Amino acid sequence: MSAYRAVKGTRDIFPEEIAAWKHIENVIGGVAELYGFQEIRTPVFEYTDLFRRGIGAATDIVGKEMFSFEPDPGGRSITLRPEMTAGVMRAFLQKNLHAAAPVHKLYYIAELFRKERPQAGRQRQFAQFGAELLGASSPEAVAEVIGLMMQVFSTLGVKGLKLRINTLGDMDDRVRYRDALKAYLVQYAADLDEPSRERLEKNPLRILDSKNPAVQDIVADGPKLRDYLKQGALDDFEQVLRYLDERGVSCSVDPLLVRGLDYYCHTAFEVASPELGAQDALGGGGRYDGLARQLGSKTDIPAAGFAVGMERLLIVMEKQGLLRHIGEKGPRVYVVLQDRELVSRAVTLCNSLRSAGISAEMDLCARSMKAQMREANRMHADFALFVGEAEIRSGLFGLKNLRTSGQEELDMKAVIARLCRKPDETESSAPC
Ligand code: HAM
Repeated sequence: MSAYRAVKGTRDIFPEEIAAWKHIENVIGGVAELYGFQEIRTPVFEYTDLFRRGIGAATDIVGKEMFSFEPDPGGRSITLRPEMTAGVMRAFLQKNLHAAAPVHKLYYIAELFRKERPQAGRQRQFAQFGAELLGASSPEAVAEVIGLMMQVFSTLGVKGLKLRINTLGDMDDRVRYRDALKAYLVQYAADLDEPSRERLEKNPLRILDSKNPAVQDIVADGPKLRDYLKQGALDDFEQVLRYLDERGVSCSVDPLLVRGLDYYCHTAFEVASPELGAQDALGGGGRYDGLARQLGSKTDIPAAGFAVGMERLLIVMEKQGLLRHIGEKGPRVYVVLQDRELVSRAVTLCNSLRSAGISAEMDLCARSMKAQMREANRMHADFALFVGEAEIRSGLFGLKNLRTSGQEELDMKAVIARLCRKPDETESSAPC
């Protein structure tokens, strides 16, 4: 054991888990493509100011959770990205993409960093997949991003998710409501818990999200956001709900749902899984029409998007047994050496197989034939190819199907053709 351990809140991802990650990443890429979303990659760090302005100085993320540092003495502070939306919008504006086409659909799978107290499902380095639709935030655009998110879940086979949705109105509605809520809650300041009291000054809307029943009781008798919304916002929301219904996406309206980032307006949503316990939020998102201007754009860029935590998604999939057979795919063929004198012939054979696009493995530890067969099975190889003096002399090799135990004697050309063959019921893969 080494004296060093991974930093608290970070974790290593080993080969056996990589298969699950790749499976999810492939599904995300495939579904995103169906919806016309293209991948974007942005730098891991940005100027701190971007997040302060974009996410909001009063939010927990900016106030407490950012890893910020100065790269040069007296230089401009930079921050490891705690989320992707601000960076994607920055990249979009920097490249002036809205001049090229009115609507852009972007998705990402990215590593993020938040200085949170680590616990199950909450890390300091974690990954999200997400999508941002820039240039439109009509009800159909919002339904489109939610539809994409839910289709990724259903393609992966994830069940039992709860989608909650709310409308926050426009900035003006929110400010009027925030003031009214604050004026109401101030009267009960002594009865609020410590986190809510802290939020009272800086971000009273977040108190609506409190899980503390005593705080929930106080909130229940307070002013309602809905009463502060203009008719247009309510109509817009009704349409979002209708389009979701038409897509077969079920959700429940939660008038207390407010998200932890300041850029949202109108529709906001969150998807949760009972499989996640205390940290039950699997993903969330919403409309953020004001962000572009907040970042200095002269034009309005209506937008909507979402992000889903990859580690939390893996926890849910693991618990639902959806990762069971992923990662069991081994090499197509394991070359079993009967005579150590023939190592160089086996190396040459492996090379010819690999050149033909067939994944091939051989023993590197001078093991007995029995041990080599054990290793081939442990690796889930599809076939074993036997190489001995007699085989080299005759040019005919024994090829054993490790699934059916059937064996054939074939020359090398036929071996390659056989291993390239399209899969039948007894084989799980065809590499060529
Ligand atoms: P968020 O709600 O902050 O939204 O994060 C989305 C998801 O990322 C969460 O639901 C959770 O699954 C995962 N997540 C967040 N923090 C952690 C953590 N410390 N450890 C593990 N997983 C975590 C956003 O980030 C917005 N940018 C979403 C968005 C995109 N809105 C519009 N477009």
